[in-house]
Amino acid sequence: MTFEDLKRIKSESERVSKLYEIFNEEKRLLGSKAGKVEFLTTIQYINSVLKKGDRILDIGAGTGAYSFYFDELGYKVTAVELADKNIEVFKSKMNETNKIELIQANALDLSCLQDKFFDVVLLFGPLYHLEKSADRDQAINEAKRLLKDEGALFISYINHDIIHLTESDYNPNWFDGNTYDHVTFRIDNFPFVFFTLEEAREMILSKDLIIEKEIATDGLSELLAEKINLMSDTAYGQYLAYHMATCEDIHKLKATNHFLFQCRKSE
Ligand SMILES: C[S@@+](CC[C@H](N)C(=O)[O-])C[C@H]1O[C@@H](n2cnc3c(N)ncnc32)[C@H](O)[C@@H]1O
Repeated sequence: MTFEDLKRIKSESERVSKLYEIFNEEKRLLGSKAGKVEFLTTIQYINSVLKKGDRILDIGAGTGAYSFYFDELGYKVTAVELADKNIEVFKSKMNETNKIELIQANALDLSCLQDKFFDVVLLFGPLYHLEKSADRDQAINEAKRLLKDEGALFISYINHDIIHLTESDYNPNWFDGNTYDHVTFRIDNFPFVFFTLEEAREMILSKDLIIEKEIATDGLSELLAEKINLMSDTAYGQYLAYHMATCEDIHKLKATNHFLFQCRKSE
């Protein structure tokens, strides 16, 4: 399956499912020191709001990096995932000690789950793929519906404004290509959907949610991946400490691959 084959698939959910036959999601997030920056940053913020016995809903759970981590800490985790390949890997990782409830479903329709049931809802993935604005609204509204009134909703996006640089790092002639508008510099939403910080923020605020924190989840770790992966454990520890100390800095929010928003419902 090539990217050109993917483009020809009409159904969005089928395209997402096929994409994850090409992308190794497990390896991306946990397979290297650079990849882990996103994971370690995200869990730090989620851990800061969790209370004993909390129920967590992980929407777009991938192969379960967050679901397994929180299940092993003793929280009650429900995971929703769309892609066949990721479901298959997720299931292969389950053993008798895991209590995760895994549901194969689309984030657009979670009617199988009860209103206001979860203390923490994670929406890390569907907004990388939903091409229609109405669908993105629906996914956020579903996440909000399932969240308790006093709960915390975490939403992540891919930062449009960094892609020119990360793509040029993979392909020095990327600017010569045709995957962006050469006048506005807007990048085509394929195979992922990208947002500027302002667009992501506006999408959340329009759903009557309050943004409590805005986090530059992984900063420049993709661009610096080769160097980060060569760091000694002590240098990496300090790099992480530096990243955590600065990842809410407003300027860092323009220089990150992912944004993480910590939100709550308005009164
Ligand atoms: C980049 S992965 C992120 C996985 C994991 N949540 C993480 O943050 O590492 C995006 C995930 O969202 C899933 N996804 C995309 N659209 C979805 C939808 N409409 N409903 C449910 N899952 C979806 C994909 O199949 C994929 O597993």
